[in-house]
Amino acid sequence: MEITIKSEQDIKKMRIAGRLAAEVLEMIEPFVIPGVSTEELDRKCYEHIVNIQKAIPANVGYRGFEKTICSSINQVICHGIPDHNRILKEGDILNIDVTVIKDGWHGDTSKMYLVGKCKPHNERLVKVTQECLYKAIEVVKPGAYLGDIGHAIQKHAESNYYSVVEDYCGHGIGKIYHEDPQILHYGKPGRGLEIQEGMCFTIEPMINQGSKYCKTLRDEWTVETKDGRNSAQWEHTLAVRSNGVEVLTKRVNESI
Ligand code: MF3
Ligand code: CO
Ligand code: CO
Repeated sequence: MEITIKSEQDIKKMRIAGRLAAEVLEMIEPFVIPGVSTEELDRKCYEHIVNIQKAIPANVGYRGFEKTICSSINQVICHGIPDHNRILKEGDILNIDVTVIKDGWHGDTSKMYLVGKCKPHNERLVKVTQECLYKAIEVVKPGAYLGDIGHAIQKHAESNYYSVVEDYCGHGIGKIYHEDPQILHYGKPGRGLEIQEGMCFTIEPMINQGSKYCKTLRDEWTVETKDGRNSAQWEHTLAVRSNGVEVLTKRVNESI
C-alpha cells in the first residue's frame, strides 16, 4: 500500500470525522464511574454515533470485532472488548478508543479515564503517557522524520522508567482505517520516512509500568501486559500542514 497525500478538501472532511470521534470521548466522560459496565459505555457510544452524529462506528465488523469502542482496563494494553460482566471499580484506569466514519473519512482517537480516586502510580502513568503523545505531536511538521516521533515518545517514557510497547503502532488514516505508513512509538531521530504536508496519521503510544512485552488473550483481541502491570494509551489523528500539524481529534478542553 502507498501513502496517500490528502488535499485541502480531504482534510476538511477528515476534520469533521475527527471532531465527531473526539466528541464521543467527551460525551462518555460523565458515565465513566464505578459500577458501570463497559458494555453500557459501548452502547451509549454506539447510539450517539448512529443516532445523533448520523455516522458509522468503524470498529463494528472490523476484522470481526463486534463493538463500537475498545475498552482497555489496567493491565489491558489495547483492544479490550466491552462486556456486561466487566464492571468498572474505583481505582481502575480505562482507555476508550473509538473511530468514527463520516462521509467516507475516518477519525480515530483514544483517551484514558480515571475511575474515581486512583493510586498516584497509576495517575502518573496516565499523565506521562499523555505527555509522550504531546511531545510526539510537537515534532510533527514537513521535513521532520518518523523516527523523530518514535524518539520523542521513547525518550520521555524511558526517562520515567516506563517501557514502550513495540507490537502495535500508529498508522496512516483517511478513507481507509489503517493505511501506510506505520508510525512506530520508538526510534532514532532523523531515521525513517520524511514527513510531508498532506499526510494524515495517528500517534497512539502504549506505555507500560513494567516490561514492554504483550500477550493476546484467547478471545483473540484483548492484549495485556505479559507481567500483569498496568499500561496506558492516548491517541490522536493528525494532519500535516505546511506550517506544522493540526490535531483533528482535539477535544474542547485540550490545549495543544
Ligand atoms: N482504534 C484502534 C486503533 O487505534 C483499532 C481498533 S480495531 C478493533 O488503530 F477492531 F479492535 F476495534
Ligand atoms: Co484507535
Ligand atoms: Co489508531
